[in-house]
Amino acid sequence: MTKKIQAVRGMHDCLPLDASMYQYVETRIIQVLSSYGFSEIRLPVVEATPLFTHAIGDMTDVVEKEMYTFKDRRGMSVTLRPEGTAGCVRAGIENGLLYNQEQRLWYMGPMFRYERPQKGRYRQFHQIGAEVFGLQGPDIDADLIIMTAKFWKVLGISDYIHLELNSIGSIATRKNYHHTLIALLEDNVQILDADCKRRMYANPLRVLDSKNPDMQALFDTISPIGHYLDDKSHEHFNELCQLLDLAGISYRVNQRLVRGLDYYNGTVFEWITDSLGAQGSICAGGRYDTLVGLLGGRNTPGIGFAIGLERLVLLVQKVLPEITVPQSIDLYLIASGQGTERAMFLLSETIRNAFPDLKIMRNFGGGSFKKQFSRANKYRARLAIVLGEYEINHNQCIIKDLCKGTQQTVSLSQISFLIRMLSNILQT
Ligand code: HAM
Repeated sequence: MTKKIQAVRGMHDCLPLDASMYQYVETRIIQVLSSYGFSEIRLPVVEATPLFTHAIGDMTDVVEKEMYTFKDRRGMSVTLRPEGTAGCVRAGIENGLLYNQEQRLWYMGPMFRYERPQKGRYRQFHQIGAEVFGLQGPDIDADLIIMTAKFWKVLGISDYIHLELNSIGSIATRKNYHHTLIALLEDNVQILDADCKRRMYANPLRVLDSKNPDMQALFDTISPIGHYLDDKSHEHFNELCQLLDLAGISYRVNQRLVRGLDYYNGTVFEWITDSLGAQGSICAGGRYDTLVGLLGGRNTPGIGFAIGLERLVLLVQKVLPEITVPQSIDLYLIASGQGTERAMFLLSETIRNAFPDLKIMRNFGGGSFKKQFSRANKYRARLAIVLGEYEINHNQCIIKDLCKGTQQTVSLSQISFLIRMLSNILQT
């Protein structure tokens, strides 16, 4: 027998039941995004590799270890996007959306990272991300965070998720911190692993991302970047905290939160759950005021976040198991006997035209009435329209309420009456 071809490790099918749960979650988030004035932007999945090495930083885990990079047929190095911010900035610059303008954009789609797969961590995963350009005050940072809090409220999961907040200061703050950090790391170089030694001078902040347990004790002794903030960064962060207090958003200042991508400055945040084990970060983001300039645009401040959809759906399913997205249909058409199938075919289209929002299916493949009713039940249809030879000969049909077991006969010469009747039944 031919060997079955299976999905690539870490990349999953989303089966219909799960897909409807994703739709449920996505619809609610998109609704909140548009209520805050965000517009959708659709971006390519494949980008030129230097976009990510420049934006994310070539000494980050994502760029060094996790990118799906390959040569296209002309030898150009391209990468499956590991995240959405870089592509969004690239598109904004390329299409003249950013300079001297205010933009609120959201995107959704697959991202790719070659990580070790486990529950909540995949090689193809999906994000909904949002980016704001052209605004630099702490008020937009607060607005964005308040909006993310609204997602959890709308989804009913606010009790299972908490906010961690930090400021990593300006680029100048980082430079100062780098010097201090390098000196400290040099003093302890014998404890560092090969990766950290390699990153120590070029990108010392990324040394702190290491998960190597042998170095955690050393990291705990190092003062966090928050202790080195300049006055402006302090002021920005304090104002943000006050606005969040005013809005009643609880948070924990976590001075160890630095994020694993190089483009951030100032505000960084993460929404974390304790309900999913190791992969608890549901939504993460921060400010990136130099990224547009770094990618060739005119300096424009930016701030954004991305939600990991798989983790969010896992969380909703875990803490609210009672949320099931109905898999039922509204109406199933059944026909058996001479001339009934064509009449059913026409009738189904007439009803679909009258009720574009209803879920309507008709029987395929013939079969006895009993068999067709059992198919209608399998689809958990609310109503059935039944056409037999008797009904066709008398130009009528039967509407059967499959929940209540009641039925009525309606003339087919009065389609408008039939439609009204259906509409009345469906409203009860
Ligand atoms: P990130 O922290 O790398 O940030 O990813 C954001 C979220 O994506 C994480 O909090 C997590 O929920 C989800 N995620 C990341 N990797 C995986 C994975 N392998 N499997 C499943 N879910 C995953 C960014 O991507 C930034 N672009 C966010 C941002 C937007 N910052 C500013 N604007």
